[in-house]
Amino acid sequence: MTRLTTCPDSETVATRAAAHVERQLERAVSERGTAHFALSGGTTPARTYELLAAGMSSGTGVEFWFADERCVPPEDEESNYRLAAQTLFKPAAIPAAQVHRMQGELGPDEGARRYATELRERVQRGGQDQPTPPVLDLILLGIGPDGHVASLFPGAPALNAGGDAVCLPVHDSPKPPPQRITLSLAVLRAARGCLVLATGASKADAVNAMLGEPSPHVPASLLRRERLTVIVDDAAAPEAPRP
Ligand code: 6PG
Repeated sequence: MTRLTTCPDSETVATRAAAHVERQLERAVSERGTAHFALSGGTTPARTYELLAAGMSSGTGVEFWFADERCVPPEDEESNYRLAAQTLFKPAAIPAAQVHRMQGELGPDEGARRYATELRERVQRGGQDQPTPPVLDLILLGIGPDGHVASLFPGAPALNAGGDAVCLPVHDSPKPPPQRITLSLAVLRAARGCLVLATGASKADAVNAMLGEPSPHVPASLLRRERLTVIVDDAAAPEAPRP
């Protein structure tokens, strides 16, 4: 069952999100010794990362990954890595060895290939009897007004990649910049938990569609519902179920 929390404002969303992340990471470290945590870019998660940094001391046991990245240099203001470095890694003094950057500067194809290799090498896969993707403990996602998550956009061929797909190139993102690297839907669905954050009225329809009938036209609706936590403000809250 999806857990939905509605908050009065974006600051409360960030506070609740940071608390959820801390709980999930602590649980993963205590159960398995390591927590594999993937971050998204965009604007929504920045405050959550700042609050996480305030409470996190060096992130012991936490391996930081990315849900997607733009194909720009890491110092570019469009870089998701740059956002996370400024709001989380630097303030929390996270050791570089614990941060696994998607190398967007290599371009979508080579960048995706290398990241898939690193994920397969560093993160335990699911059941051994079938080709399953690496199992991350928590993936923090924003959502676009069109219902995209990471860089998985409505109707994109990437949504049909096989179950053993790990990381995919994107050459035609409708959200600039066009060239990106993204985790596959299989990796998002294999994760122990996904946390979707949404604030503002522009996201209300997407949140509603995410919780409705699963459809490739709304990639967020294809996330595993029973492993999904959604934290929104009032403006982005889904319509109350009709009586
Ligand atoms: C990206 C993000 C993307 C983002 C959504 C929401 O690289 O652009 O990973 O998936 O989460 O587009 O973006 P905002 O948080 O800026 O609304």
